[in-house]
Amino acid sequence: MRRLPESLTAAYVAQMGLFPAPGQWTYDDYARLPDDGWRYKAIQGELYMGAAPRPAHQRVIRRMILVTGAAGKTGKAVIHALAQANQAVRAWLHRPEQTEGLPIADSIVGDLEDPRLWPAACSGVDALYLICPNMHPRELKIGKLALQSAQAAGISLFVYHSVLHPQTEEMPHHWQKLRVEEEILRSDLPFTILQPCAYMQNILAYRTQIAASGRYAVPYTIYARFGLVDLADVAQVAARVLSESDHAGAIYELAGPANLSSAEVAQALSSHWQRPIQAIQAPLDEWERSARATGMPSNAIRSLGAMFRYYDRYGLLGNGNVLSWLLGRRPTSFAQFVEREFSGCGGAALV
Ligand SMILES: NC(=O)c1ccc[n+]([C@@H]2O[C@H](COP(=O)([O-])OP(=O)(O)OC[C@H]3O[C@@H](n4cnc5c(N)ncnc54)[C@H](OP(=O)(O)O)[C@@H]3O)[C@@H](O)[C@H]2O)c1
Repeated sequence: MRRLPESLTAAYVAQMGLFPAPGQWTYDDYARLPDDGWRYKAIQGELYMGAAPRPAHQRVIRRMILVTGAAGKTGKAVIHALAQANQAVRAWLHRPEQTEGLPIADSIVGDLEDPRLWPAACSGVDALYLICPNMHPRELKIGKLALQSAQAAGISLFVYHSVLHPQTEEMPHHWQKLRVEEEILRSDLPFTILQPCAYMQNILAYRTQIAASGRYAVPYTIYARFGLVDLADVAQVAARVLSESDHAGAIYELAGPANLSSAEVAQALSSHWQRPIQAIQAPLDEWERSARATGMPSNAIRSLGAMFRYYDRYGLLGNGNVLSWLLGRRPTSFAQFVEREFSGCGGAALV
């Protein structure tokens, strides 16, 4: 923006006979300016003028981003972070009713395995954020469909929501993500890969149960350690990577600030609720029986069983430095997460 020279302001006055002298501009004068493609501002009585943003500039500051898995835990968090960053989202939903409460510009509904939907989903999109359904047995197929369609549509950034340590063959869903990463490296698309550790939010599904029983049960040793990460931090990074232009070619490991055992997680809950919460190891076959009773598909039971066996031996250790750098602050600690998510519930009232 530059201040209009007195001669130009005077030209307006002369041309239209309506506008005031320099130093005497009011909001009403400003509101009467012609819609001539320039941007005007009236500040302390002076008129300022600048060129209107060109379409290319507008694309940089507000891009259309396709987010898949949009109604899931991760998708919702990423979409809300993108809305905060003023980005427009096309959401890929599984079912039509899932749009409710999502701040989105546009949506597409259907199965991610359906090749007929992908070209329309990618049309007019600047960037794609690929979130695959949890434990999906054909994640590689979905990844390939996404890459082909993104390439055909000329998308400028392909971001893949992977997982920490995809190179662990003993966990089939991690191994599939590695195969998708391999396909991404082979494509000629600009890409960014995010590799988050297990979310702190996973415990929320058991909040009432833990509060009622005073026990935090896991189907692996309570001493295995995990770099648990706050999904809100991960979503903030996703929005940053999608809003800035300098993350192409990057693979970011996203872990929380500490590697915590389930015993320490239970301790953090005890401190918050001011009453004992005990971590216990539940037998894996007991977990498998109850998962089958809930109707969980057998391939998901197999994958989760393999994951728990791996966790039992190795945990999932990470380092929070990359996340600190991307956030520009220390990542959320588990104690801060508990303070935010568990206040007002699960205390003595539920005992
Ligand atoms: N949870 C973690 O700690 C963690 C950590 C790191 C990475 N990740 C990864 O993050 C990704 C998302 O996990 P999440 O926990 O957010 O998943 P989620 O909550 O289960 O959400 C998955 C979404 O995908 C939809 N969906 C399922 N099958 C579909 C299909 N065939 N076509 C289209 N949409 C389909 C689901 O809709 P319906 O409700 O209709 O089924 C749901 O809205 C996974 O790839 C996971 O491995 C998770």
